[in-house]
Formats: sequence, C-alpha cells, structure tokens
Amino acid sequence: MYESSLALALVPYTAGEQPKNQRLIKLNTNENPYPPSPRVAEALAAGYASLRLYPDAEATAVREAIAGREGLSPAQVFCGNGSDEVLAFAFAALFAGKILAAPDVTYSFYPVYSQLFGVDYRTVPLREDFTVDVEGLMQGCPVVLANPNAPTGRFLPIAEIERLAAHTREAGEALLVDEAYAAFAPETARRLLEGYDNLLIVRTLSKSHALAGLRLGYALGSERLIDALRRVRDSFNSYPVDRLAQLAGAAAVRDDAYTAEKVKLVCQARDWTAEALRARGWEVLPSATNFLFVKAAPADAAPVQRRLREKGILVRHFASGRLKPWLRISIGTMEEMERVVEEMGEAEGR
Ligand SMILES: Cc1ncc(COP(=O)(O)O)c(C=O)c1O
Repeated sequence: MYESSLALALVPYTAGEQPKNQRLIKLNTNENPYPPSPRVAEALAAGYASLRLYPDAEATAVREAIAGREGLSPAQVFCGNGSDEVLAFAFAALFAGKILAAPDVTYSFYPVYSQLFGVDYRTVPLREDFTVDVEGLMQGCPVVLANPNAPTGRFLPIAEIERLAAHTREAGEALLVDEAYAAFAPETARRLLEGYDNLLIVRTLSKSHALAGLRLGYALGSERLIDALRRVRDSFNSYPVDRLAQLAGAAAVRDDAYTAEKVKLVCQARDWTAEALRARGWEVLPSATNFLFVKAAPADAAPVQRRLREKGILVRHFASGRLKPWLRISIGTMEEMERVVEEMGEAEGR
C-alpha cells in the first residue's frame, strides 16, 4: 500500500466552491465584499524586492501591530498561514491525545483536525434554537468552540465563555475560542486573557480585513500557550507566513479606520437583509457575523440553493442532519443583498 492508513482514513474538510465565473454573486464562503485597505497595495508593491530572502520566522512586525491593537505583548501573539493553520497547530499543541468537547454544529474543520492529531472529538448538541449548551459542554474538558458560531452566526455572551474558561482551567486544560467573526459581534473574549492563562483566542484577517486570499490568521493567549503553538510550528514549517503576508497584514491591521468602516457597512447590510427576509416570512437566526443562516425550506434547502445558483447567486448548503433546511448566505454589498432578497422571493414565491 503506497498510502498510510492515516491518509486513507482521513475525511477531509470540504471548502465552498471558488467559481471561475466572476460574474456570479459569490455569497458562499463568507468573504468580505470590499477590497482590502489601499495600504495593503502599497505594502505589497514595496515588498517585491525582499522576496529573494526567507521571511522573519516570528512574523515580528505583524505580531507587534496586532499586540499594539489588543494591548498585549508580542509574546502573546502567534501568526500562521490563515487561521485554519493556527487552529491545526492549536489542536496538536493543546488537544492531541485528549478527549475534546465541542458543540455538534460548529466549524467542520474541528473533527478533521481531531482525526489528524489523534483527538477524541465528542460533540454536545446545540439547543433547539441553535444556542450553545454551556452546561453540556462543561461535562467535557478541554473545550473548543467558535464564537460567534459557524454556520449558525449565533453569539454566546462572554460571561458564558468565562464559565467555560474557569471550568477548563480548574481541570488544568485549555479553552480554544475561534473568533473568526468577532469583528462583526458585540464583544470578544479578549478581556478574559488577563484572568485565564488557559484561554487561546484564534482570529483571522480573512473576513474583517478582506484578506482571505492572503492567508493570515493569529492566536492571542498566554506566553505558555503561544510557546506551545511555536513548538508545533517549528516541527512542521518554520516559515508559514510569507514576506508579503507579513507586510500586507501589518499594514491592514494598522488601518483601523478602514476596517471599521467596511465592517460597519457589512453589519448594516446584514441587518437590512435579515429584516427583509423575515418580513417575507423566512426564519433567520440572529447573526453576529458576516453571514445569515436562513431556513429556506421545511426539510431540505438544496433545491433553493440550486435555483439561486441558476440566478447567478452562490450560497452554502450543508447536507447533514439538522442543517438541511438551512442556507448560509454571506453578506455582500447592499446591491447584492437586494438581489438576494428579490431572487429568494421569486424562487420561492414569497
Ligand atoms: C469558524 C471559522 N474559523 C476559521 C476559519 C478559517 O479562516 P481562515 O483560514 O481564512 O483564516 C473560518 C473560515 O470560514 C471559519 O468559518
């Protein structure tokens, strides 16, 4: 057998479609509809000549920029090739060989990393209204969750995250909070870092900073947890963040005003779309993210997804169990969202 039994047994993550046809309205992978900060363009141009050299393995400049924004020391910040990679390193660094508790509906990369790194992944069902069952999660230890959650978009108040942080710390284990969408939410778990050295927060520049194509994610946590991530990274790839990503990432992080303006536009379009869909009779979960989770059919929303695609609109459908009646619709520009509301209404006669 050429392949290892591990490679043959893996059930890889399925990413959303990246179509060649640029004329589609692409609302299936939670990208930002706006371009990145113009400062990113300047940084990329200036970085050309330096590509001859390997990058700074510690991504110092971008870590300093993030640390400055968060009121942390650079030693409490870790950068990786997208938050997917940071999460992978975190699963290896904090969870390998352990029994990990997670909500049943969450980012579907977690069970994949668990399989890869020998983590016994145990799920706790979300409640009927798709909120996280904190009591249920507290039966397990360590714990991972996304907040806001994906693909539901629902936000768990930080006081509840603190209960999980206290519970896991008492057992000497870590709590991993994936804050990929925190820029669109009312609050983040950042303030808990002062009190909980077992808390690791993972974030990305893909959504809030419109840099999904750059691949830059980061973790915030105690020096002890950051050091564990570094040990895993240096056992795998010493240079996961390339020179251009470091330059562009630092420039994007420093341009707070630009990010805030675009995040605001996305949140406004999100709230308008949610109201417009509800007014036409759709059930839409409350969202603290840059996407909406919409009950598009009584049993299976796959035909609605297909009809929208025929109209040139890409959205995401998850074919498993409880998620089948729902569609996840990323937030685009206001013009795009007006089209979505109109086409959903036409396709479904509402
Ligand atoms: C919950 C969650 N975490 C992490 C990611 C990965 O983001 P990236 O690898 O682009 O940083 C995503 C992307 O969709 C996500 O939804």
